Amino acid sequence: MTKNPSNHPATTSLGIKPLSEREFAQFQKLIYGKAGIYLAPVKKALLEARLTRRIKQLGNKSFTEYLRRVVDDPEGAEMIQLLDRVATNETHFFREPRQFEFLEQQIFPRWAAQDAAGPRPRLIRVWSAGCSTGEEPYSIAMTLLDHFPPSAGWQVEILATDLSTRVLDSARKAVWPITKSVEIPHGYLKRFMLKGSGAQADNMKAGPEIFSVVRFERLNLNEEIDSIAGRFDLIFCRNVLIYFDAASRGRVIERLLNYLAPSGYFFLGHAETLNGVTERVRSVMPTVYIHCAGPQANLAAGAVRNLETSEAR
Ligand SMILES: C[S@@+](CC[C@H](N)C(=O)[O-])C[C@H]1O[C@@H](n2cnc3c(N)ncnc32)[C@H](O)[C@@H]1O
Repeated sequence: MTKNPSNHPATTSLGIKPLSEREFAQFQKLIYGKAGIYLAPVKKALLEARLTRRIKQLGNKSFTEYLRRVVDDPEGAEMIQLLDRVATNETHFFREPRQFEFLEQQIFPRWAAQDAAGPRPRLIRVWSAGCSTGEEPYSIAMTLLDHFPPSAGWQVEILATDLSTRVLDSARKAVWPITKSVEIPHGYLKRFMLKGSGAQADNMKAGPEIFSVVRFERLNLNEEIDSIAGRFDLIFCRNVLIYFDAASRGRVIERLLNYLAPSGYFFLGHAETLNGVTERVRSVMPTVYIHCAGPQANLAAGAVRNLETSEAR
């Protein structure tokens, strides 16, 4: 038997030669160029594990052969399959609870006051960019419909986009394991979700009220956007930019801000910040920003500072 001089196995568990450093560097470049996602060297084993089964399925003999297949058709179906296997899709209902408190305590009262004074149309538009399997846009839908119901003349529109067709297929079904119900406030759970029965007993499903206000679309935030019209009152782009490097992060933020209404709000994940990234927004609490373009921006930032000071007292 020939000895393998390195400590690496000669083939992966499915009989394909392990991903070499050179091949990993080629995948890194390809994925960064297409999706803006930077795969750190520690992700090599993960990439190998995630691609091996696919390569075998397609009957390709090596990572190089698979790479060629993707590169030869950069807009093709296999590029989508590759990106599906690279993205991290972890998500929860009502993730970052302080942001939902901020919506209810700060933003919604401001909208209600604007409505009472006359200048605000009763349409609320939200974009969940990097929506994964739908927990984020449906959490937003529950919160908004509770405070701004159609019965009072309000219309809620939520656009939910992601790079991965796999998560979008799952999000469109709007079915989750019932174990996830603990993430949803009890009142919302009872009002907006349906419990499965029979073969679906271990699942829950979005009820028609929230289902009807969320629309899903595949969109790569790393490319120019031409399919979206109008501005949004709220943009959520949480736990997405964390996988990008500084250059692509800056480009994506500038692109997204073109779609934020004057005095609209921008939400990030807990480990992300826009400090030093753009001057077009002002921080109103950690991870939440207001568009500086609107007349409400200074007022809003001031009001939040007061609230935080009084809470601290
Ligand atoms: C960790 S999940 C975050 C989900 C949700 N926003 C949250 O905070 O719970 C990150 C999502 O960003 C998506 N994503 C990664 N790169 C993207 C890109 N270039 N364009 C659009 N979506 C992307 C991934 O497919 C994944 O579903």
